[in-house]
Amino acid sequence: MRVALVTGPSSGIGRATSLKLGRGGFHVVAAGRSETRVAPVIDLIREEGGSAEFLHLDLASLESARDAAHTFAANGRELDVLVNNAGVGATRGITADGFELQFGVNHLGHFMLTHHLGRTFRPGARIVVVTSSVHFRVDGIDFDKLQRRTRSLYGLDEYAVSKLANILFVKELAHRRPDWNAYAVHPGLTSTNIIPWYVRPFMRRRLLTPKQGAETVIWCASSDEVTEDSGLYYSHKTSRPPSMTAQDDDLGRELWERSEQWCGVAPQH
Ligand SMILES: NC(=O)c1ccc[n+]([C@@H]2O[C@H](COP(=O)([O-])OP(=O)(O)OC[C@H]3O[C@@H](n4cnc5c(N)ncnc54)[C@H](OP(=O)(O)O)[C@@H]3O)[C@@H](O)[C@H]2O)c1
Repeated sequence: MRVALVTGPSSGIGRATSLKLGRGGFHVVAAGRSETRVAPVIDLIREEGGSAEFLHLDLASLESARDAAHTFAANGRELDVLVNNAGVGATRGITADGFELQFGVNHLGHFMLTHHLGRTFRPGARIVVVTSSVHFRVDGIDFDKLQRRTRSLYGLDEYAVSKLANILFVKELAHRRPDWNAYAVHPGLTSTNIIPWYVRPFMRRRLLTPKQGAETVIWCASSDEVTEDSGLYYSHKTSRPPSMTAQDDDLGRELWERSEQWCGVAPQH
């Protein structure tokens, strides 16, 4: 049975992705920080005849991300698909390890998780990272600002940096691990908890449902129609050029090397 690990399965795009992959015959490893919030998704997958299990994962803690990967690996399972979907936005704070909250959860926690899951990936495994077109908003990463609390009013600048990091990570991963397939996906503006409640009424007509938002994520995770090279950026089931900054190989390499140092993991070449 093919196995897919999805982060952030409790709501929104991650919930829709988990349900669809469960219906598609995957065993779903639903990785979240609250078993209570994830349990209804697991129950639904099982009621429909699929199989799923909970994995504890708090991406705001590098220790938790590493432990989650080790717990999964200790079960002796191999992974066909990893969906790095969980995310926070429009928020302010700092992670357990002292990183700006959105960068820490959206990029660094997933970097740690992916690194330690690496040995469980089957050849040709797919890694799908849910990013955002909001990355066009920023034209670089100020590395000095990543180890302090969120500064901008609604955290939007920091969120954009974290989503830029998602795309740079995918491109660099594809370069370093040609035996895997990595995809960055912009789901489209979707009605989920990440869109602040005070903004939603003004955007209602433009918002996708979570099921619609999950379509390209699921397509990249499981469709035979995905035939292009690893490392690209997709929306609406089509590869598109991300921002020039997101295509900057030097920046991608620097982010990768710094992420390795922050996570305390051995360099991969
Ligand atoms: N909605 C949009 O318009 C849109 C547009 C572009 C990109 N995206 C991206 O889509 C992805 C999914 O977001 P969504 O829109 O579906 O929002 P959502 O409904 O708020 O889902 C976010 C998920 O992330 C989980 N999460 C948050 N912090 C976590 C942590 N520290 N550790 C582990 N899990 C954590 C949440 O779990 P809890 O139940 O524990 O909170 C939840 O399952 C994100 O990466 C987001 O950046 C969304």
